[in-house]
Amino acid sequence: MRLFLGLFCLFSFGYSFNFLVYSPLFAHSHSTFFGTICDFLTDAGHNVTFFTPTIVTKYRNISYTKSTKDVVHMDPSQKLKEFGDQLSSGDISRFWTEDSSATEIIPVIRVFQNMYNEQAEVMKNNLEILDDLKSRNFDVIIFEAYVFSAYPLMDYLDIKTFIPSLSVTHNVALSESIGEPAMPSVVSDGLLSHGEILSFWERIINVLVVRSIDSILGYPIHRSFKPPFNVIDIRNIEPDASFVFINSNPFLDFPRPTLTKTVEIGGISVDVAKIKSEKLPEKWSKILNLREKTILVSFGSLLLSKDMPLENKKALVTAMREFEDVTFIWKYEDDDFEEFSGGVENIEFAEWVPQRALLADPRLSAFLTHGGLGSINELSYLGKPAILCPLFADQMRNTKMLTRHNGSIGFSKYDLSNSQKIVEVFQKILYDNSYSDNSKKLAEQLENQPIKPKDLMVKHAEFAARFGRLPSLDPYSRKMGLIEYFMIDVAFFSLTLLVCSAFVIRKSVGNFYVKIKIE
Ligand SMILES: *[C@@H]1O[C@H](CO)[C@@H](O)[C@H](O)[C@H]1NC(C)=O
Ligand SMILES: *[C@@H]1O[C@H](CO)[C@@H](O)[C@H](O)[C@H]1NC(C)=O
Repeated sequence: MRLFLGLFCLFSFGYSFNFLVYSPLFAHSHSTFFGTICDFLTDAGHNVTFFTPTIVTKYRNISYTKSTKDVVHMDPSQKLKEFGDQLSSGDISRFWTEDSSATEIIPVIRVFQNMYNEQAEVMKNNLEILDDLKSRNFDVIIFEAYVFSAYPLMDYLDIKTFIPSLSVTHNVALSESIGEPAMPSVVSDGLLSHGEILSFWERIINVLVVRSIDSILGYPIHRSFKPPFNVIDIRNIEPDASFVFINSNPFLDFPRPTLTKTVEIGGISVDVAKIKSEKLPEKWSKILNLREKTILVSFGSLLLSKDMPLENKKALVTAMREFEDVTFIWKYEDDDFEEFSGGVENIEFAEWVPQRALLADPRLSAFLTHGGLGSINELSYLGKPAILCPLFADQMRNTKMLTRHNGSIGFSKYDLSNSQKIVEVFQKILYDNSYSDNSKKLAEQLENQPIKPKDLMVKHAEFAARFGRLPSLDPYSRKMGLIEYFMIDVAFFSLTLLVCSAFVIRKSVGNFYVKIKIE
């Protein structure tokens, strides 16, 4: 008993830390990721505060944490609210028919930067909330790496130790900042649609994109909230991060060189045991029993099925009609489906579907999805074969990442109007067992990875809280110039040496011949 008490004291006094997780409320998936981090730290016995200033008001009433009770909100200014409205009403339905390319990245990043700058202004005007936060003496702050308003916050609250994180896969600018090797011949930015094998042009884009984003946008200018309101040198502070948490998983993503500082916690928000233990509502269970096989069709919550071109809807229905013994559950957000699907019995339209629970059910045969990172993680962990039809943003990359494991098939959005091609791909995913075998194999690997993402996150966060900044993890290579790093000087020197010796050898051999001739 005494030993137990002793251990308890050690745990609660010696190793209980105060964490601040800062995540402005602007997108569902980002808040889910950071809410999960909060809960796992709380469950490990720490004091966690989730500071989530509102940007997009429609998410304000959703609770992103369960065990973490200390959730601090902040109301947006009128201007910030307008940014939020712009984000949530932005017309992206054009991506059903248009390319999503690298050239869009810069204007999008600019909008986000302006939004976070305004969000910093809002914090500056609500210092009483920050003063209250300051009294909690945080050991560590965790925040989304590109939400740079975290730096003046960190400065005001006097927090020394920080863990910039990404709720998406790696970002080359952050890699370069912390000195992680990111050779453009091998590593593409997470926002680009490149796969593992790069063409000549893709390598050129790799060289240009990060460089041009940096020179056009650079780091935003944030000033301290305290007099004398100095400019905060984010570029120089960022590499002092103790760790970087990113939402990619080495068993799923393309392999690339990383540092000890980079902690890959991809899939942390997919709790397989919990999802499997949840009971599927009766209504859905009945639908799964209707026919021998069932396919779930959902394009996510950003681009809506109801906005896809009519010819795509018709082609999908024509294809589905051919599979009499398959039920199709289609997440469709309007009630006008009778107009293009009249008389087809094997399609169940629903505005909302319990996606995770359906993916966890062995009766579901396959998933047709847009390949958002959330869905990719879920279906990988739950081992479902899938047809991936990427529409925009990181979805093209996600598709290449997952199809590499041979459990899913990529499908172009431009073929969605071709019912014959849709029939072929349904046929393949339903009746070629290799897809379900391979997706089960991947799920088993993810389930049995040597160290679980949750443990990686908690242990590294605790380590940072205990030891603060970790200069020993900071590679000297990040201070090297291009010439030194890529050994251009050595190559030049070797080449010169080679040319000189060739010249000398030629000269002396020449003299030798001349000598022989004379003799
Ligand atoms: C955690 O919070 C509790 C309750 O607010 C407080 O008593 C305790 O001192 C805090 N722990 C640390 C390490 O500050
Ligand atoms: C996928 O299939 C290809 C071709 O058969 C094979 O070379 C590759 O190793 C497979 N990938 C995995 C992850 O099994």
